[in-house]
Amino acid sequence: MPDLHKSDSSPADSTPAGSSPSGAPSPRATTTRSAVSLTGTGLHLSFGTHHVLRGVDIAVDAGTTTTVIGPSGSGKSTLLRVLNRLHEPDQGDILLDGRSVLKDNPDELRRRIGMVFQHFNLFPHKTVVDNVALGPRKLKGLSKEEAREVALRQLEIVGLTNKADVRPARLSGGQQQRVAIARALAMTPEVMFFDEATSALDPELVKGVLALMADLATEGMTMVVVTHEMGFARNVSDSVLFMDRGAVVETGAPDQIFDDASSDRLRAFLSQVL
Ligand SMILES: Nc1ncnc2c1ncn2[C@@H]1O[C@H](COP(=O)(O)OP(=O)(O)O)[C@@H](O)[C@H]1O
Ligand SMILES: [Mg+2]
Repeated sequence: MPDLHKSDSSPADSTPAGSSPSGAPSPRATTTRSAVSLTGTGLHLSFGTHHVLRGVDIAVDAGTTTTVIGPSGSGKSTLLRVLNRLHEPDQGDILLDGRSVLKDNPDELRRRIGMVFQHFNLFPHKTVVDNVALGPRKLKGLSKEEAREVALRQLEIVGLTNKADVRPARLSGGQQQRVAIARALAMTPEVMFFDEATSALDPELVKGVLALMADLATEGMTMVVVTHEMGFARNVSDSVLFMDRGAVVETGAPDQIFDDASSDRLRAFLSQVL
Protein backbone atom coordinates (compact mmCIF):
# COMPACT_ATOMS: atom_id res chain seq x y z
CA MET A 1 0.00 0.00 0.00
CA PRO A 2 1.51 3.36 -0.94
CA ASP A 3 2.35 5.42 2.06
CA LEU A 4 2.28 9.18 1.67
CA HIS A 5 4.91 9.98 4.21
CA LYS A 6 7.32 7.56 2.58
CA SER A 7 7.30 9.61 -0.59
CA ASP A 8 10.82 10.40 -1.72
CA SER A 9 9.91 12.66 -4.60
CA SER A 10 8.71 15.69 -2.67
CA PRO A 11 10.83 18.84 -2.72
CA ALA A 12 13.68 18.81 -0.24
CA ASP A 13 12.13 21.41 2.01
CA SER A 14 8.83 19.57 2.22
CA THR A 15 10.30 16.67 4.13
CA PRO A 16 9.98 17.49 7.79
CA ALA A 17 13.41 17.61 9.38
CA GLY A 18 14.12 14.63 11.54
CA SER A 19 11.80 12.22 9.79
CA SER A 20 13.64 9.01 9.20
CA PRO A 21 14.07 7.77 5.64
CA SER A 22 12.26 4.56 6.50
CA GLY A 23 9.18 6.52 7.46
CA ALA A 24 9.30 4.94 10.89
CA PRO A 25 8.34 7.13 13.82
CA SER A 26 11.31 9.35 14.48
CA PRO A 27 12.68 10.01 17.95
CA ARG A 28 11.71 13.68 17.86
CA ALA A 29 8.50 14.29 19.74
CA THR A 30 6.03 16.84 18.42
CA THR A 31 4.26 16.75 21.71
CA THR A 32 5.33 15.64 25.11
CA ARG A 33 1.79 14.67 26.00
CA SER A 34 0.49 11.17 25.59
CA ALA A 35 -2.25 10.62 23.05
CA VAL A 36 -5.86 10.90 24.14
CA SER A 37 -9.11 9.63 22.66
CA LEU A 38 -11.86 11.92 21.38
CA THR A 39 -15.52 10.99 21.39
CA GLY A 40 -18.64 12.84 20.30
CA THR A 41 -21.99 11.25 21.01
CA GLY A 42 -25.44 12.21 19.73
CA LEU A 43 -24.33 15.65 18.60
CA HIS A 44 -27.04 17.95 17.34
CA LEU A 45 -26.78 21.54 16.18
CA SER A 46 -29.23 23.82 14.47
CA PHE A 47 -28.68 27.27 13.03
CA GLY A 48 -32.16 28.74 13.41
CA THR A 49 -34.46 26.26 11.71
CA HIS A 50 -31.59 24.62 9.81
CA HIS A 51 -30.79 21.32 11.54
CA VAL A 52 -27.12 20.98 10.52
CA LEU A 53 -25.92 18.13 12.76
CA ARG A 54 -28.49 15.40 13.30
CA GLY A 55 -27.18 13.11 15.99
CA VAL A 56 -23.56 12.61 14.99
CA ASP A 57 -21.43 9.99 16.75
CA ILE A 58 -17.67 9.97 16.30
CA ALA A 59 -15.09 7.94 18.22
CA VAL A 60 -11.40 8.51 17.61
CA ASP A 61 -9.14 6.19 19.56
CA ALA A 62 -6.05 7.64 21.19
CA GLY A 63 -3.23 8.03 18.70
CA THR A 64 -5.36 7.30 15.64
CA THR A 65 -6.54 9.36 12.67
CA THR A 66 -10.12 9.58 11.47
CA THR A 67 -10.86 11.23 8.17
CA VAL A 68 -14.24 12.81 7.60
CA ILE A 69 -15.48 12.78 4.02
CA GLY A 70 -18.74 13.83 2.43
CA PRO A 71 -20.32 16.29 0.04
CA SER A 72 -20.08 20.03 0.47
CA GLY A 73 -22.59 21.29 3.02
CA SER A 74 -22.92 17.92 4.77
CA GLY A 75 -21.74 19.37 8.09
CA LYS A 76 -18.07 18.35 8.23
CA SER A 77 -16.71 21.75 9.25
CA THR A 78 -19.58 22.25 11.66
CA LEU A 79 -18.75 18.92 13.30
CA LEU A 80 -15.16 20.02 13.92
CA ARG A 81 -16.37 23.35 15.25
CA VAL A 82 -18.76 21.63 17.63
CA LEU A 83 -16.09 19.19 18.79
CA ASN A 84 -13.90 22.06 19.94
CA ARG A 85 -16.92 24.08 21.06
CA LEU A 86 -16.58 26.98 18.67
CA HIS A 87 -20.29 26.12 18.42
CA GLU A 88 -21.98 24.69 21.49
CA PRO A 89 -23.96 21.55 20.61
CA ASP A 90 -27.72 21.69 21.25
CA GLN A 91 -27.54 18.07 22.38
CA GLY A 92 -24.92 15.42 22.88
CA ASP A 93 -21.63 15.06 24.66
CA ILE A 94 -17.94 15.52 23.88
CA LEU A 95 -15.30 13.52 25.70
CA LEU A 96 -11.54 13.88 25.68
CA ASP A 97 -9.65 10.99 27.20
CA GLY A 98 -12.98 9.56 28.33
CA ARG A 99 -14.07 12.64 30.27
CA SER A 100 -16.82 15.08 29.24
CA VAL A 101 -15.45 18.50 28.42
CA LEU A 102 -18.77 20.32 28.06
CA LYS A 103 -18.48 21.95 31.45
CA ASP A 104 -14.84 22.96 31.01
CA ASN A 105 -13.77 26.44 30.02
CA PRO A 106 -14.02 26.40 26.20
CA ASP A 107 -10.69 28.24 25.93
CA GLU A 108 -9.05 25.44 27.87
CA LEU A 109 -10.53 22.87 25.46
CA ARG A 110 -9.32 24.81 22.43
CA ARG A 111 -5.83 24.77 23.87
CA ARG A 112 -5.99 20.98 23.95
CA ILE A 113 -7.16 20.77 20.33
CA GLY A 114 -5.01 22.30 17.60
CA MET A 115 -6.83 23.38 14.47
CA VAL A 116 -5.60 23.92 10.93
CA PHE A 117 -7.94 25.45 8.36
CA GLN A 118 -7.99 25.83 4.62
CA HIS A 119 -6.91 29.45 4.99
CA PHE A 120 -3.92 29.74 7.23
CA ASN A 121 -4.52 33.30 8.49
CA LEU A 122 -0.93 34.06 9.41
CA PHE A 123 -0.21 37.61 10.56
CA PRO A 124 1.35 39.21 7.48
CA HIS A 125 3.36 41.82 9.38
CA LYS A 126 4.95 39.29 11.74
CA THR A 127 7.82 37.00 10.87
CA VAL A 128 7.23 33.28 10.54
CA VAL A 129 8.81 32.52 13.92
CA ASP A 130 6.80 35.27 15.61
CA ASN A 131 3.59 33.85 14.15
CA VAL A 132 4.39 30.49 15.72
CA ALA A 133 5.61 31.98 19.00
CA LEU A 134 2.53 34.13 19.54
CA GLY A 135 0.33 31.38 21.03
CA PRO A 136 2.91 30.03 23.49
CA ARG A 137 3.70 33.61 24.55
CA LYS A 138 0.15 34.94 24.93
CA LEU A 139 -1.77 31.81 25.90
CA LYS A 140 0.86 29.82 27.75
CA GLY A 141 2.64 32.77 29.30
CA LEU A 142 6.12 31.84 28.09
CA SER A 143 8.81 34.51 28.00
CA LYS A 144 9.77 35.94 24.63
CA GLU A 145 12.91 33.82 24.55
CA GLU A 146 11.17 30.62 25.63
CA ALA A 147 8.40 31.13 23.07
CA ARG A 148 10.94 31.71 20.31
CA GLU A 149 12.73 28.52 21.27
CA VAL A 150 9.47 26.54 21.17
CA ALA A 151 8.62 28.12 17.81
CA LEU A 152 12.00 27.30 16.29
CA ARG A 153 11.68 23.71 17.41
CA GLN A 154 8.29 23.43 15.70
CA LEU A 155 9.61 25.09 12.54
CA GLU A 156 12.36 22.50 12.47
CA ILE A 157 9.74 19.75 12.62
CA VAL A 158 7.87 21.19 9.63
CA GLY A 159 11.14 21.75 7.78
CA LEU A 160 11.12 25.55 7.73
CA THR A 161 13.86 26.64 10.08
CA ASN A 162 15.45 28.56 7.23
CA LYS A 163 12.32 30.70 6.85
CA ALA A 164 12.03 31.69 10.51
CA ASP A 165 12.81 35.34 10.07
CA VAL A 166 10.96 36.17 6.88
CA ARG A 167 7.37 37.37 6.50
CA PRO A 168 4.73 34.82 5.44
CA ALA A 169 4.22 36.50 2.04
CA ARG A 170 7.68 35.29 1.02
CA LEU A 171 6.57 31.67 1.42
CA SER A 172 4.61 29.41 -0.92
CA GLY A 173 1.09 28.42 0.09
CA GLY A 174 2.35 24.99 1.10
CA GLN A 175 5.05 26.50 3.29
CA GLN A 176 2.55 28.89 4.86
CA GLN A 177 0.27 25.99 5.66
CA ARG A 178 3.20 24.18 7.29
CA VAL A 179 3.79 27.30 9.39
CA ALA A 180 0.12 27.14 10.41
CA ILE A 181 0.64 23.52 11.44
CA ALA A 182 3.74 24.52 13.43
CA ARG A 183 1.69 27.26 15.07
CA ALA A 184 -0.91 24.71 16.18
CA LEU A 185 1.74 22.22 17.36
CA ALA A 186 3.52 24.90 19.37
CA MET A 187 0.61 24.77 21.79
CA THR A 188 1.34 21.05 22.44
CA PRO A 189 -2.20 19.98 21.56
CA GLU A 190 -3.48 16.54 22.49
CA VAL A 191 -5.62 16.33 19.36
CA MET A 192 -5.26 17.95 15.94
CA PHE A 193 -8.09 18.94 13.60
CA PHE A 194 -7.50 19.65 9.92
CA ASP A 195 -10.30 21.20 7.87
CA GLU A 196 -9.52 20.92 4.17
CA ALA A 197 -5.98 21.99 4.95
CA THR A 198 -4.80 21.38 1.39
CA SER A 199 -7.84 22.56 -0.57
CA ALA A 200 -6.53 26.05 -1.24
CA LEU A 201 -3.06 24.92 -2.31
CA ASP A 202 -1.68 24.61 -5.80
CA PRO A 203 -1.56 20.92 -6.70
CA GLU A 204 2.24 20.66 -6.55
CA LEU A 205 2.23 21.98 -2.97
CA VAL A 206 -0.37 19.57 -1.61
CA LYS A 207 2.00 16.64 -1.25
CA GLY A 208 4.38 18.27 1.22
CA VAL A 209 1.52 19.24 3.54
CA LEU A 210 -0.06 15.78 3.33
CA ALA A 211 3.32 14.21 4.06
CA LEU A 212 3.62 16.31 7.19
CA MET A 213 0.12 15.32 8.27
CA ALA A 214 0.94 11.66 7.62
CA ASP A 215 4.06 12.07 9.74
CA LEU A 216 2.00 13.40 12.65
CA ALA A 217 -0.38 10.48 12.28
CA THR A 218 2.50 8.00 12.30
CA GLU A 219 3.88 9.58 15.44
CA GLY A 220 0.63 8.85 17.21
CA MET A 221 -1.13 12.20 17.27
CA THR A 222 -4.89 11.81 17.63
CA MET A 223 -6.31 13.53 14.54
CA VAL A 224 -9.58 14.33 12.82
CA VAL A 225 -9.01 15.25 9.19
CA VAL A 226 -11.70 16.67 6.92
CA THR A 227 -10.36 16.19 3.42
CA HIS A 228 -11.10 15.58 -0.22
CA GLU A 229 -7.77 13.78 -0.55
CA MET A 230 -9.01 10.23 -0.86
CA GLY A 231 -5.44 8.91 -1.02
CA PHE A 232 -4.84 10.28 2.47
CA ALA A 233 -8.15 8.90 3.71
CA ARG A 234 -7.37 5.46 2.35
CA ASN A 235 -3.67 5.17 3.12
CA VAL A 236 -3.07 7.19 6.24
CA SER A 237 -6.22 7.18 8.31
CA ASP A 238 -7.28 4.41 10.65
CA SER A 239 -10.95 5.02 10.09
CA VAL A 240 -13.14 6.97 7.71
CA LEU A 241 -16.43 8.62 8.51
CA PHE A 242 -18.80 9.49 5.66
CA MET A 243 -21.27 12.30 6.38
CA ASP A 244 -24.24 13.39 4.35
CA ARG A 245 -26.92 15.93 5.28
CA GLY A 246 -25.75 16.30 8.85
CA ALA A 247 -25.58 12.61 9.71
CA VAL A 248 -22.98 9.86 9.67
CA VAL A 249 -24.04 7.51 6.90
CA GLU A 250 -21.17 5.05 7.22
CA THR A 251 -18.02 4.70 9.24
CA GLY A 252 -15.35 2.05 9.14
CA ALA A 253 -11.84 1.08 8.19
CA PRO A 254 -10.60 2.59 4.91
CA ASP A 255 -10.80 -0.73 3.05
CA GLN A 256 -14.38 -1.18 4.10
CA ILE A 257 -15.37 2.35 3.08
CA PHE A 258 -13.55 2.40 -0.25
CA ASP A 259 -13.92 -1.22 -1.37
CA ASP A 260 -17.09 -2.37 0.31
CA ALA A 261 -19.43 0.60 0.77
CA SER A 262 -22.84 -0.52 1.92
CA SER A 263 -24.92 2.59 1.18
CA ASP A 264 -25.92 3.98 -2.20
CA ARG A 265 -25.10 7.46 -0.98
CA LEU A 266 -21.49 6.58 -0.20
CA ARG A 267 -21.10 4.70 -3.49
CA ALA A 268 -22.49 7.71 -5.36
CA PHE A 269 -20.15 10.08 -3.51
CA LEU A 270 -17.11 7.90 -4.17
CA SER A 271 -17.96 7.59 -7.85
CA GLN A 272 -17.82 11.39 -8.05
CA VAL A 273 -14.57 11.91 -6.19
CA LEU A 274 -12.45 8.92 -7.17
N1 LIG B 1 -22.51 29.79 11.10
C1 LIG B 1 -23.48 29.26 10.35
N2 LIG B 1 -24.71 29.81 10.30
C2 LIG B 1 -25.70 29.26 9.58
N3 LIG B 1 -25.56 28.15 8.81
C3 LIG B 1 -24.35 27.58 8.79
C4 LIG B 1 -23.24 28.08 9.55
N4 LIG B 1 -22.17 27.29 9.34
C5 LIG B 1 -22.58 26.34 8.48
N5 LIG B 1 -23.88 26.49 8.16
C6 LIG B 1 -24.67 25.61 7.29
O1 LIG B 1 -24.53 24.30 7.78
C7 LIG B 1 -24.44 23.36 6.72
C8 LIG B 1 -23.17 22.55 6.87
O2 LIG B 1 -22.08 23.39 6.63
P1 LIG B 1 -20.57 22.91 6.79
O3 LIG B 1 -20.40 22.30 8.11
O4 LIG B 1 -19.71 24.08 6.47
O5 LIG B 1 -20.46 21.80 5.66
P2 LIG B 1 -19.18 21.14 4.99
O6 LIG B 1 -17.99 21.53 5.80
O7 LIG B 1 -19.47 19.68 5.01
O8 LIG B 1 -19.12 21.67 3.60
C9 LIG B 1 -24.50 24.16 5.44
O9 LIG B 1 -25.82 24.14 4.96
C10 LIG B 1 -24.12 25.55 5.88
O10 LIG B 1 -24.72 26.51 5.05
MG1 LIG C 1 -16.28 22.56 5.26
